[in-house]
Amino acid sequence: MTAFLVRPSLLLRSCLGVCLFSLALASGVRADSVFKPLALGSSGLAGDGIALFLPAGLKPDAVQSVCLVSVPTIHGAIPPGWRDVPAFSSDGTQTRAELHVDAGTDLYGTGEVTGPLLRNGHSIELWNTDNFTYLKHGGRRLYQSHPWVLGVRADGTAFGVIFDSTWKASLSCSNNIVFTSDGPAFPVFVIERSSPAGVLRGLADLTGTMPMPPLWALGYQQCRWSYYPATRVKEIADGFRSRHIPCDVIWMDIDYMDGFRIFTFDKKGFPHPAALNAYLHRKGFHSVWMIDPGVKREPGYEVYDTGTAANVWVKTRDGHDFVGKVWPGDCVFPDFTRPGTQDWWATQYKAFLSKGVDGVWNDMNEPSVFGGPDDTMPVDNHHRGGGNLEAGPHLEYHNVYGMLMARTTRAGILDARPDKRPFVLTRSNFLGGQRYAATWTGDNASTEVCLRESIPMSLNLGLSGQPFNGPDLGGFADNATPDLWARWVGFGAFFPFCRGHAVKGSNNKEPWAFGPVVEKAARIALERRYRLLPYYYTLFHEASVDGMPVMRPLFMADPKDPSLRSEDQAFLIGSDLLVVPQWAKHPALPKGTWRQLSLVRDDLADPFQAKLLVRAGSIIPIGRVVENTNEKLLSPLTLVVCLDAAGKADGRLYEDAGNGYGYQHGDYLLTTYHAELHDGRVVVSIASATGRRERPERKAVIEVLDAKGQHIEGKVTGL
Ligand code: NOJ
Repeated sequence: MTAFLVRPSLLLRSCLGVCLFSLALASGVRADSVFKPLALGSSGLAGDGIALFLPAGLKPDAVQSVCLVSVPTIHGAIPPGWRDVPAFSSDGTQTRAELHVDAGTDLYGTGEVTGPLLRNGHSIELWNTDNFTYLKHGGRRLYQSHPWVLGVRADGTAFGVIFDSTWKASLSCSNNIVFTSDGPAFPVFVIERSSPAGVLRGLADLTGTMPMPPLWALGYQQCRWSYYPATRVKEIADGFRSRHIPCDVIWMDIDYMDGFRIFTFDKKGFPHPAALNAYLHRKGFHSVWMIDPGVKREPGYEVYDTGTAANVWVKTRDGHDFVGKVWPGDCVFPDFTRPGTQDWWATQYKAFLSKGVDGVWNDMNEPSVFGGPDDTMPVDNHHRGGGNLEAGPHLEYHNVYGMLMARTTRAGILDARPDKRPFVLTRSNFLGGQRYAATWTGDNASTEVCLRESIPMSLNLGLSGQPFNGPDLGGFADNATPDLWARWVGFGAFFPFCRGHAVKGSNNKEPWAFGPVVEKAARIALERRYRLLPYYYTLFHEASVDGMPVMRPLFMADPKDPSLRSEDQAFLIGSDLLVVPQWAKHPALPKGTWRQLSLVRDDLADPFQAKLLVRAGSIIPIGRVVENTNEKLLSPLTLVVCLDAAGKADGRLYEDAGNGYGYQHGDYLLTTYHAELHDGRVVVSIASATGRRERPERKAVIEVLDAKGQHIEGKVTGL
């Protein structure tokens, strides 16, 4: 038994929540609702350009937050002239916060959403949903919830709003931003900054950043539901190596388990998982294995028995273990709000990881329950809380179930393997969930619509604090045509998370499955990604420090340029590399000089490749073509120099051990390079460097992109 204390104010709030929920079982606003204003209780500055607003009755010390790293205190008055102040109201069952939007303001964020980048005129429901091919609920509910909007005004200044509630809610962006919750009163944070990048830094101050992942997780990853048996997994791995197509990770979907029992292995198909992992490791691969939340209700199955003994399962409203159907049939579900569940869950990982498992994939964690109400568990199921979480109904905790699972998984992995950086991929998540796991955008389809939509979806996730994300490249559901798969990999190779996947029963979707033309296109696209990995790793480092997205919308290059505000075909990687998919029609591009980059042979001629453009004034650090990240990337280091009109350029390179935590104790090297044109020659020097890691002895190649084209300027050492 775990004892826990809940502050009386939280209990009161929880009670209020249960009362509200019993009156308002359905989310969405009823036509006959009359919302009456709720007075503003307290408000004040809670950080640099960050204001906190609380409706009357909600005391600052009673605020419980799952998305924030910690709840900041109010330490000053809101400055006069503060522009965005929420108005709170209630109809007796639902609670609402509303902010007026000035004409000319463009709205973004709101997490994982279908539709365009620009969110003006769109509304979503925050109720994490297993939404195969995004067709349920008009695509307005997906697997994750981000109660967050980024606003960019006509003058390029920006604001962001966090509606800090986990309860079922709706969020509409029109002339006003309206957040309507089925739960009790909640705090609103408004971040006010001079640019969208400044707002995203504020979001990171409040909700934290993605921890630095292991380098291997930035490589290409191959998945299918499922590669079965183990010999098929080896065949896939060998397929990459024999064809010299770069790949770092092979994924094991649910069929590796014994009857879908998590933490077990199918005796027939996967009799020796440790030997399979060792095989993959020898060939330079890492492996990621799936763990779902549903635990088969079966006395005698150790995970069920130990979980039952530790009393970890989510309860029904009358206190019984809740039972719902998922892959294995009747399942029980860990209550991740409880600290005791965390200890039990961590124990499961020790034996599992000891088989050489490198990463963990948390799927179905909305949670998805077959035949359950709204495909999940009843909203009056009970989560017991503990630590700093109050006890509450599923209506309160549904949206954070996946995030709490990912948090617990990460903690379990760290516990078992404290010297390595965990890699967790989660399907369901919530604002702030970047602290625990990377994410993919669930079950898309091999269709033109999903191909195009994958860009704004990833961009808005990045603008909602989650930099490490990407779609199922090539599409998950349905058969992919060779043309679609090739066009998708041509730009999809540049998503921060880059994994090909395929649904059971669909055609094979490995890079070679579509014949030699597509295989060549995939090799070129992935070789381009691998050459760029030093640049990506530097951006991941940046994201881990200040929350800047790795993949960015073009408007971030020039927030004052109205023509860029809705561009969602082309996108930026960092601030210096622009990706224009081969199929993009008349994309709006930022002003200034951008020069075309070639990275591998034939990449400019291949009809499926995206066009890559480099910003004048920047230096992009790149490596050589490798087949996986165990190979030395920077041998040599190539610095691609794109001079500006003044003949100057700057760029940064972050290096560390690629795994482990030495970097937190100084074992890293962050170099700022500077290039300048002198007497017709480009001279590159180290402008500054931090970190105690020794600069490797290596050759550097200086490659210049200028009006004359792309040429090698020289080879030097010391960089
Ligand atoms: C649903 C996931 O979204 C998908 O990626 C996976 O292949 C299936 N579950 C089977 O585990």
